[in-house]
Amino acid sequence: MNTFTLVVGMCALVLVAGHHNKPHECFIRGDPHYLQFDGYDALDFQGRCTYIVSETSNFNMNNPPTDSFRVLVSNSLLPNHDDLTFSTAVWVIVHGHTVRLDMERDVILLDDEIANIPHTESNFNVTHHHPGYVRLLTSFGLEVELQKLTNANRKHKVWVRVPASYNGQLRGICGNMDGNDDDDDFLTPEGTVENDVTVFGNSWKQSLGLVEPIECR
Ligand SMILES: *[C@@H]1O[C@H](CO)[C@@H](O)[C@H](O)[C@H]1NC(C)=O
Repeated sequence: MNTFTLVVGMCALVLVAGHHNKPHECFIRGDPHYLQFDGYDALDFQGRCTYIVSETSNFNMNNPPTDSFRVLVSNSLLPNHDDLTFSTAVWVIVHGHTVRLDMERDVILLDDEIANIPHTESNFNVTHHHPGYVRLLTSFGLEVELQKLTNANRKHKVWVRVPASYNGQLRGICGNMDGNDDDDDFLTPEGTVENDVTVFGNSWKQSLGLVEPIECR
């Protein structure tokens, strides 16, 4: 092996290792476009309700296993439009709590109680780790971040980042994160593959116990 092959080989190794440890990311931006964990092209889904964007396949409301989670996004109509919607709030159900992060307001709802940012619980916290951004971080590495809306910035951006160890164990609009950009990223809660984006998105509609956008109908 000459020096060149050695260097190239080592770089490839570093890249592979780096890729493996890096959290995987799903990115949602108005009106809304969803770039799935395994996706290269964003999918457009203009639902105006609340949807599960990502959850562990083993999540259940009554007795959620440790390190399981559910992340939902509520979308509302853009003023003066009857088709474009934008994410206005993000819900994270984790470690026995329901946390609402809000695009417009600088407080969170923690189990229906208003709480200020920063807020720290034993297994997660919510901080402004950069000015203009709100981030919820859990002890097992789930990271849900949104960019706050200001008069100058109306971008409606949400990121969901998950450790690579959750590979293939997720479901929701963000897909199953198994590393393959294929049909299995369009699985409905029933486990069937859906080709129509609107039907796929609507299959993840979930309102249970959450405040719905008024436009949801
Ligand atoms: C927030 O939680 C993360 C993960 O447990 C931890 O590393 C970090 O120090 C915490 N930050 C604050 C400000 O509590």
